[in-house]
Amino acid sequence: MRLPKRVKIVEVGPRDGLQNEAKIVPTQVKIELINRLSATGLAAIEGGSFVSPKWMPQMADSLQVMQGIKRQPGVSYPVLVPNLQGLHNALQAEIDEISIFASASESFSRKIINCSIAQSLDRFAEVCSEAKKHNLRVRGYISCTLGCPYEGTVPPSNVAWLAGRMIELGCYEISLGDTIGVGTPGKAQAMIDCVAEKVQHERLAAHFHDTYGQALANILAVIERGITVIDSSVSGLGGCPFAPGASGNVATEDLLYMLKGMGIETGVDLNELAAAGEFISTYLGRPSSSKVARVLTAQATQNCSNQ
Ligand code: HMG
Ligand code: MG
Repeated sequence: MRLPKRVKIVEVGPRDGLQNEAKIVPTQVKIELINRLSATGLAAIEGGSFVSPKWMPQMADSLQVMQGIKRQPGVSYPVLVPNLQGLHNALQAEIDEISIFASASESFSRKIINCSIAQSLDRFAEVCSEAKKHNLRVRGYISCTLGCPYEGTVPPSNVAWLAGRMIELGCYEISLGDTIGVGTPGKAQAMIDCVAEKVQHERLAAHFHDTYGQALANILAVIERGITVIDSSVSGLGGCPFAPGASGNVATEDLLYMLKGMGIETGVDLNELAAAGEFISTYLGRPSSSKVARVLTAQATQNCSNQ
């Protein structure tokens, strides 16, 4: 098995995680979570989304969050932007990077951004050209790369075509999302192989939700195929209100434990990350979905009571 020396983790908990909470998390809690994550060694932490507050009330305070966080040098804080209005709103905060987000299935595109794939590409072209004027890096997401909640199977060739178009628009990287977590390792590898015919591996990232418990296996499978950027979410938070049945992202704690055990560097401190996870799990009033996090928290509690 050919493994990389290093993997970059893109922490999506403050956005993908908190967008899926029924109860809106207060701005100060979001800021505290991001500040704690910033101290763990992560190189990228998604801060929020500049989307319609009617569609996604959980992210309505993203401007206040982005204005309130303490930025660590060397860490990027991308935010989701669906259209020019979102970009103009985001520019009121100090931002260095935005993410545009498309879907490989037509039905999901209409559900998530209320337009067809073709219309979304027209909007993203405007966003990318405006972003360039402001020297912003643009990351691209593609949802439903391994299945759609409305259409079922999604051909990998559709994903490859869309990834190629988004690179042409100016994205430096494309994050391939298994939005509803239906993928399995063989299918994940086949999808990557197909997309890699259009976009080189170095410009691809993987974003697995863990609905069927396959996320870590899928991650290992795509790492074997040359992917070295992985999205994950502290405490395994996450989901998408427009994707019925989808559960959280792979937990950053579980991902770190696996990579560390395999001798793959990330630069992220697992204990610090687990402490940030414990902070948000305590606020949400439920245990982390990460087994690693639960073991580490139990050990930390035991150590405290032994002292
Ligand atoms: P629309 O209703 O078609 O937009 O929504 P519109 O242009 O017709 O405007 C309607 C209203 O929305 C107007 O306000 C606009 O001002 C406002 P009104 O006149 O009615 O008061 N509006 C906005 N307000 C704030 N910010 C904006 C904005 N744009 C319009 N940017 C829109 C289209 C894209 C805005 C909408 O569908 C939307 O916001 N969707 C939310 C999408 C979202 O947040 N999805 C979840 C994130 S994606 C995800 O989780 C998947 C991912 O994790 C990868 C994976 O797992 O696969 C990334
Ligand atoms: Mg997601």
